[in-house]
Amino acid sequence: MSRFKAVIFDLDGVITDTAHYHHLAWKRLAEAEGVHFDDAFNERLKGIDRMGSLDLILAGSPKHYSSGQKQALADLKNRHYCELIATMSEADLLPGARDALQAVRAAGLKIGLASVSKNAFTVLDRLGIRDCFDYVVDAATLANSKPDPEIFLTAAHVLGVAPADCLGVEDALAGVASIKSAGMFALGIGKAEVLTQADIVIPGLDHFSLEKI
Ligand code: G6P
Ligand code: MG
Repeated sequence: MSRFKAVIFDLDGVITDTAHYHHLAWKRLAEAEGVHFDDAFNERLKGIDRMGSLDLILAGSPKHYSSGQKQALADLKNRHYCELIATMSEADLLPGARDALQAVRAAGLKIGLASVSKNAFTVLDRLGIRDCFDYVVDAATLANSKPDPEIFLTAAHVLGVAPADCLGVEDALAGVASIKSAGMFALGIGKAEVLTQADIVIPGLDHFSLEKI
């Protein structure tokens, strides 16, 4: 028996490597605007919504951007990103992702998805896994992005599970912070020295084991 009643997964960088595509699309935009963009900076963008990410990038520019210009840049980044995800398929599931979803289902736990990406439904459909989730939060309905706990609390609420009985799975600093402020157990995907707030960190879902948590 698991100590949890639900597992709530992030999408980008956990179930599929779209974190890499977000990285490429933001880097292209940042460099076109003359803003330095490296891996450490990218780490800060993970889990942050589109406009929030753009604001962080443009803070590195001496130029002033009107809200119309910002919207145009956000739309441009999204077009680059959508081009990158257009050819995705089931083959783009990260190693262990399908097995992890099946193991959670077999253990009788609820499964939620908590991504602030407005492209999440498209990505799930390309991967062919939308049906694996009892509930997918619609990012368009959220007032606050990660690290605010709203997204994980919304998922728990709709799944009918108390936050303390939920396991949140995240690759982003902001996402782990969101899980912890929701009062959940945080499983980090990545490196322990980066995801310092996570309760446990594994390199990828190919190391996922409900029994070991
Ligand atoms: C996820 C990713 C972020 C991305 C955000 C918004 O949280 O980790 O890198 O900026 O979603 O994605 P969107 O597809 O709506 O631009
Ligand atoms: Mg992520």
